[in-house]
Amino acid sequence: MGFRYIYIILLCIICAACEDPPPVDDGSLLDIAYDPIPYEIDIPPSFPQMVIPEDNPMTQQGIDLGRRLFYDPILSRDSMVSCSTCHLPSGSFTDNLESSIGVNGALGERSSMSLLNVGFTRNGLFWDGNAMTLEDQALLPVTNENEFDNEWPEVVKRLKRSVEYPRLFREAFGISNVSEINEDYAVKAIAQFERILVSSGKSKYDRVEAGLDAYTDQELLGRDLFFDDNTEVPDAECNHCHSVPIISADQYFNNGLDAAMGFDDFEDLGRGGVTGIFADNGKFKAPSLRNILFSAPYMHDGRFKTLKEVIEHYNSGGKESMNKDPLIRPLNLTNEQIDALVAFISTMSDTDFIEDERYSDPFQ
Ligand code: HEC
Ligand code: HEC
Repeated sequence: MGFRYIYIILLCIICAACEDPPPVDDGSLLDIAYDPIPYEIDIPPSFPQMVIPEDNPMTQQGIDLGRRLFYDPILSRDSMVSCSTCHLPSGSFTDNLESSIGVNGALGERSSMSLLNVGFTRNGLFWDGNAMTLEDQALLPVTNENEFDNEWPEVVKRLKRSVEYPRLFREAFGISNVSEINEDYAVKAIAQFERILVSSGKSKYDRVEAGLDAYTDQELLGRDLFFDDNTEVPDAECNHCHSVPIISADQYFNNGLDAAMGFDDFEDLGRGGVTGIFADNGKFKAPSLRNILFSAPYMHDGRFKTLKEVIEHYNSGGKESMNKDPLIRPLNLTNEQIDALVAFISTMSDTDFIEDERYSDPFQ
C-alpha cells in the first residue's frame, strides 16, 4: 500500500506541474490594437503637393514613432547622440556648428542642413545629393562613423528589447510579432516625421506675399534686388537658384566659394563625388533660404558666420573656377543694398515652425 500512496503523490506532483505551464513569451503583439489614423500634412496654399511614397503612407502613429526615434539616442553606439543632436528645432533643425559632432566627439566633414520643407526635395538630399529618398537617407547616420557609429542589427536588437518600441511599431505598421521590427520600418517612421516639417505659412514673407502685411522700405528694396522686379535697382540674381516657393531651385551649382584651376582642384568634390561627372565637381545644393536667420553658420562648410558675409561674397563675384555659375559675378551693390537683402531674407523667418509642439522633443 505504501507504494500505491507514493505513486499517487508522485502523480499529483507531476500533474500539478503540468496543469499550469508557465506563460511562454512568443513576442506576439496581437493583443494591441492596430488602427492607424491617416495624416493630412498642413501645406501652405502657395506650396506644391508633396510626393508621398506609395509604400509609406502618412499616419499619426507612424509620425509619433518617427518623432520618438528622431529624438532617441538609442540609435547611436554609445547611446549619447540622436538625429536631434545635429538637427535641433531652435536652429531650424540644424546644430549651428561649422561641422557636426557625432559619437565620441567625431567631427563630420560638412555643416548640418535644415530639415524645414525637406519632404519637398525631389532632386537628392545632402549637400551633394547622395541620397534620393528620406527613407534611404535615414539609414545612413546609424553606420556613419562621424554620426552614430553603430550597426543596424544592434539597433534592431535594442528596439526589440525596449519596453515601449514593440507597441509603437505594432501601432504604426501592424506588425504581429516583436521579431518583425526591422530597419525598414524604423526609417519609414523617421521619414514620416520629417515630411511633416513644413513651413507654417506665417512668416512675414508669406504674410506679405499673401497680401496680409507690408514690407518696410528696406525689406522692399531687398525684395526687388532678390527677385529682379524693379529695373531701377541692380539684379542680385538670387531667385534663379533660390526660387519660390521653397526658395530653393533643388539644383546643384558652383557659387564661387573656392578658386580652382582644374576640376580636380576642389577640396570637397560635392556633387561630382556622387555623379562622377568632372563638371559637377565643386557644385553643391542651393539650399532653401527659409529660416536662414536661425541656421548660421552658412555654406556646406559653415565658412560664413553672418548673412552679411554671405552677401558680401556674392557681391564680390566669387572666386574663379571653370564651372563657376555665370550668375555669380560682381554685383556692385552698395552697403545699403547689402543690408536690404539681409533684411528681406530675414522676413522668411518662421518662428511658428521652430516653436511648434508637434516637432519638439517627445521625451521632454
Ligand atoms: C553628427 C551629426 C548628425 C546626425 C547625428 C544626423 N545628421 Fe543629418 N545631417 C548632418 C549633416 C552634417 C548633413 C549634411 C551632410 C552632407 O551633405 O554630407 C545632414 C543632412 C541631413 C539630411 C539632408 C537634408 C537636405 O536638405 O538634403 C537629412 C534629411 C538628415 N540629415 C536627416 C537626419 C536623420 C533622420 C538623422 C537621424 C537618423 C540624422 N540626420 C542624424 C548631420 C547629422
Ligand atoms: C548660381 C546659383 C546661386 C545664386 C545666383 C545664388 N546662390 Fe546662394 N547658394 C547657392 C549654392 C549652390 C549654395 C550652397 C553652396 C555651398 O554650400 O557650397 C548657396 C548658399 C547660400 C546661402 C547659405 C545657405 C545655407 O544654408 O548655408 C545663402 C544665405 C545664400 N546662398 C543666399 C543667396 C543670396 C542672397 C543670393 C543673391 C545675392 C544668392 N544666394 C545667389 C547658389 C546660388
